[in-house]
Amino acid sequence: MSKRIIFILYILLIFLKSQRSKAQPWVRVGYFWYEQEEFPISNIDSSLFTHLVCGYADLNSTSYELSLSDSDRLHFSIFTKTVKKKNPSVTTLLSIGGNTNTSVFSSMASDSFYRKSFIDSSIKTARYFGFEGLDLWWVNSDSSYDMSDLDFLFEEWQDAITSEARNSTRSKLILTAAVNYAPRIHSDNYPVESIQRHLDWVHVRHCDDLMPDIWTNFTAAPMAL
Ligand SMILES: *[C@@H]1O[C@H](CO)[C@@H](O)[C@H](O)[C@H]1NC(C)=O
Ligand SMILES: *[C@@H]1O[C@H](CO)[C@@H](O)[C@H](O)[C@H]1NC(C)=O
Ligand SMILES: *[C@@H]1O[C@H](CO)[C@@H](O)[C@H](O)[C@H]1NC(C)=O
Ligand SMILES: *[C@@H]1O[C@H](CO)[C@@H](O)[C@H](O)[C@H]1NC(C)=O
Repeated sequence: MSKRIIFILYILLIFLKSQRSKAQPWVRVGYFWYEQEEFPISNIDSSLFTHLVCGYADLNSTSYELSLSDSDRLHFSIFTKTVKKKNPSVTTLLSIGGNTNTSVFSSMASDSFYRKSFIDSSIKTARYFGFEGLDLWWVNSDSSYDMSDLDFLFEEWQDAITSEARNSTRSKLILTAAVNYAPRIHSDNYPVESIQRHLDWVHVRHCDDLMPDIWTNFTAAPMAL
């Protein structure tokens, strides 16, 4: 795996909510995966971005709350402060998943009790570390997704985010997800209506620069890098 690819520049191109508001501002997003140590957070030229996504928080496979190592805590706690030095208006999101075993995600999404643990913990963690949004990175699967579970997850997540913002009188957290380059992944269709209704936008993953030997050799239309 090339350690040089620090920013996964899956620049998002699709604004599913743009039908609602025609004058959507452009969003320029970069993913930062802190595990690639030779590129420190302070080297990010955040002036190039409107949004930066920091990854990845893992899931505890029994409680389904977020599970953070000491190193995660260290990096998450300095991320927002550090990138705002160069660009005070950049918005930061915490990405969940990445390396998480996909069967752990599937178990979480299939049970309303676990979904609630996950959702509550994600909101608490984002607030604690000063992130202004949450991103779900759950696309690296060879197995079949249960898309109706994802539908429930997005709905309940957005409801919790809305309710938390109301209760805390803070700005609402942004909610996004990384998705495949097509409305299908493997043999499943994404819950597109749920995504349109409950997510702010999606990050279209049109290739996998990190693991070309494992993932598909084909790229799709948005691959303009
Ligand atoms: C996961 O959660 C369980 C139950 O809360 C806890 O006992 C366990 O230590 C956690 N595991 C990790 C790796 O944090
Ligand atoms: C993912 O978790 C499941 C169930 O806990 C386990 O059977 C499987 O071996 C794990 N897969 C990997 C790649 O760790
Ligand atoms: C917001 O407050 C209501 C009423 O007290 C409560 O039922 C709800 O769980 C709270 N939501 C969150 C996300 O804290
Ligand atoms: C991608 O192409 C390489 C080189 O031709 C090949 O070795 C690999 O098996 C291919 N991967 C997939 C997933 O098709």
